[in-house]
Amino acid sequence: MKEWTREEKYRYLKDPQELVGLYDRIRGSRYRQTFHNQAVTGLMNDPNGFVWFDNRWHLFYQWCPWGAVHGLKHWYHIVSKDLVTWKNLGVCLLPDQEEGYDNKGVYSGSAMPIGDKIYLYYTGNHRDPDWTRHAYTCLARLGNDGWPEKYPLPLFGAHHDYTENQRDPKIICGVEEGTYYMLIGAETKEKHGCVLVYKSEDLQHGWHFEGELSVPGFEAFGNMWECPSIERIGGKDVLIFCPQHLSIPGRGGSQNHNGYIMGTMDWEKLTFTPDGQFHVLDFGFDSYAAACANNIEDADKAVLIAWMGVPDVSYPTDEEDWAGCLTLPRELTVRGRRLIQQPLPELKKLREEKVELRPNEFGACKLPEAAELELDCRAGHVRVHLFTDERGEGGLEIRYNDVKREITVDRSGLKTRFNLQEGTERTRPLENGLQHLRIFIDRSSVEIFVNDGDAVFTSRVFPQETEHHFRMEGDLFPRLWTLKPAVKEEFLI
Ligand code: FRU
Repeated sequence: MKEWTREEKYRYLKDPQELVGLYDRIRGSRYRQTFHNQAVTGLMNDPNGFVWFDNRWHLFYQWCPWGAVHGLKHWYHIVSKDLVTWKNLGVCLLPDQEEGYDNKGVYSGSAMPIGDKIYLYYTGNHRDPDWTRHAYTCLARLGNDGWPEKYPLPLFGAHHDYTENQRDPKIICGVEEGTYYMLIGAETKEKHGCVLVYKSEDLQHGWHFEGELSVPGFEAFGNMWECPSIERIGGKDVLIFCPQHLSIPGRGGSQNHNGYIMGTMDWEKLTFTPDGQFHVLDFGFDSYAAACANNIEDADKAVLIAWMGVPDVSYPTDEEDWAGCLTLPRELTVRGRRLIQQPLPELKKLREEKVELRPNEFGACKLPEAAELELDCRAGHVRVHLFTDERGEGGLEIRYNDVKREITVDRSGLKTRFNLQEGTERTRPLENGLQHLRIFIDRSSVEIFVNDGDAVFTSRVFPQETEHHFRMEGDLFPRLWTLKPAVKEEFLI
């Protein structure tokens, strides 16, 4: 694997032409996605600043242009009218060079549209020449012309009672008229993850520290809490965050989880009272740093999108100098004490052609490279093997055990194996059995929605040339569609 020097990782982008050669090489990769957002070159990670503004959805993501490395981060800008088809707009926020507050990266954050501008809140990742880190909460303003204007001074710096890990501002509106809150992911000096709360009456000035969010029962729950957010959905509050360096039974050696706690938020007392345990948002192998759109009108819903990847691991395309993509956007609702995640209804527009299933002599059918497979499942055991060879062998197995009432996704049969330390299986109990599966397949990913969003498994897969069939066992009623492309491969920096 390539070893990156600090100079290579943090090189400033001066001219888009510097990336042409890299782009020409990457665009030919068999693993480039057709309906998931991915970076033009290099690495993408967290989605940022997700809002509805000027008749379209705006979304940004963390982007390091130079290769599959967490180096100098920028905000890259994409837009969509329907959350299905996306358009690249190019890089939006670039790190300021040398002395700037964000000289070593424009880190994650959120956005709020007011009037004819979108306000972008982000973390300025600053390093001194001796590489000491300082986190600043910064603001930029973006108008219809697409040019961001950074405020010359940060809104505030890091709080001295916590470690240097303070980042990912999430702006919260609508709690009280004329008051705004901001959440910052942080870590106590004892290295316990937490959330800091800031407040202001003006989006642009006067932010002051209100205190640390109290979450009874979660005082020592992993290190730094990345990308925290509190969403109000259907009259319930949901705290969504990514606690670092935490082992969760059943999740292999993975230390990276994105999850949520349902509960009640008291903004005056700065207390989030949990209503139950921490739930993993997505049971698959590759999902992290989920972000909800900031101005959804429907009080019963949220729209969430996540990075289809996790930190501290490598992916097979690293060797091709690119990595990462985003998940499909999902509609979040609350059912009982759980979040339900469903593909947006608009995604049905992607369906191109209904494919008639014609099993070959081994009982395997051809799997298109971009497809949706929907299955009604009746009682009994179920096995669905995706990305098998033409004999129906190997691949990714989805199996439902009707006795134990649990569903398992097992990737051990795939030829391209990676991140083995994270394990090869993920299991989730299904109290009411398995009734329905909706599976979205792109060239290098699979998203499995179980029982209308009761559970989701999102994973990257890198099928080889021989792995383009599938096979099913059980009492099933399957439908298969090919899907249209929804993202464009184009050189736009
Ligand atoms: C989460 C994260 C954030 C940070 C960003 C940097 O994946 O580590 O906490 O702002 O990525 O790219």
